[in-house]
Amino acid sequence: MEPLKGLILSGGAGTRLRPITHTSAKQLVPVANKPVLFYGIEALVDAGVKEIGIIIAPETGDEIREAAGDGSQFGASITYIVQDKPAGLAHAVLTAEEFIGGAPFVMYLGDNLLSHGLRGLVSTFAEDDPDALILLTPVDDPQSYGVAELTPEGGIVRLIEKPKDPPSNLALVGVYLFSPLIFDAARRLEPSWRGELEITEAIQTLIDDGRRVQSEVVRGWWKDTGQLADMLEANRLVLEEVEESIEGEVDEDSRVEGRVVISPGAKVVRSIVRGPAVIGPGATVEDAFIGPYTSIGDEVAVRRCEVEHSIVLANSTVEDLGTRMEASLLGRNVKLTRSEGLPKTLRLLVGDNSIIEIL
Ligand code: TTP
Repeated sequence: MEPLKGLILSGGAGTRLRPITHTSAKQLVPVANKPVLFYGIEALVDAGVKEIGIIIAPETGDEIREAAGDGSQFGASITYIVQDKPAGLAHAVLTAEEFIGGAPFVMYLGDNLLSHGLRGLVSTFAEDDPDALILLTPVDDPQSYGVAELTPEGGIVRLIEKPKDPPSNLALVGVYLFSPLIFDAARRLEPSWRGELEITEAIQTLIDDGRRVQSEVVRGWWKDTGQLADMLEANRLVLEEVEESIEGEVDEDSRVEGRVVISPGAKVVRSIVRGPAVIGPGATVEDAFIGPYTSIGDEVAVRRCEVEHSIVLANSTVEDLGTRMEASLLGRNVKLTRSEGLPKTLRLLVGDNSIIEIL
């Protein structure tokens, strides 16, 4: 078999992660202080897939190019492919046809995270040589996903996008292995009710054509980070596996408990950091409590307050909140603070589509 190429989908509209996606690509939101996208690139390289195309949107493409570069930092070679509009996963596949050039390929959704990597899948694909291999995972709410109906032996009968009456609880995970037959199937599609060319329909076309479509149930965890709760959950899962490393400064009046990363140039002063947690390069934590499952980004300052189960992006400041901040995602350069004096009012300068809950 020809070597597999990789195709990472990092275009899309990202509506469910607004306002973060008004100014930045969701695939670059850091999980445990590393962009989600990088986990996908690393998983491909780890499985021996080093020639990688990344689908980008015109609005956020430059930022992605800048972050991932030519791929040499990952030991890969990266080609960027602009998709002019987010017209669906199968549309993204068609946009990449020239790059794929007749090779089999792994398609990976750039906002997805898998704990067990791609090696197993890639070797199953190489051994069995099917026309497509899809990955499934049991979910609690199959109505929200593409779902597979299987035969008792595990063969695929059909795939249904967001079924009202799901035939199983097995949802499609954002990793697919395809032979080039997928291009012909995608070309025959009509836009769905949401106006997109759906990859589930392209795979269904292969099934209807009598092609060999195999499935495998994912080992370990899988997360789609397309919305806030999942992003925080992905952060928690990745932090569970973080290894302790203290390179920044921790003063005598501070306590660091459990698996914590204090990056170079970070300062922890009169504070408690309870892991798993990461504190980014140049960050300051002063008279504060950083609770479990928290990622504090580069050059962030947290002073006189408590932060737990949250992601705070670079250059933000969180001070004097008087209450614990929890289950939150703060973008870059956010300033969250308390002003002195009466009357006790809220003074806000908040961008479009922000969510603020006050208790
Ligand atoms: P989705 O999360 O399904 O779509 P989206 O990014 O448009 O987000 P939302 O539903 O919140 O508006 O996309 C999964 C991945 O595929 C994600 O990394 C974006 C990427 N993608 C493309 O590259 N091109 C596309 O046309 C679409 C729909 C998604």
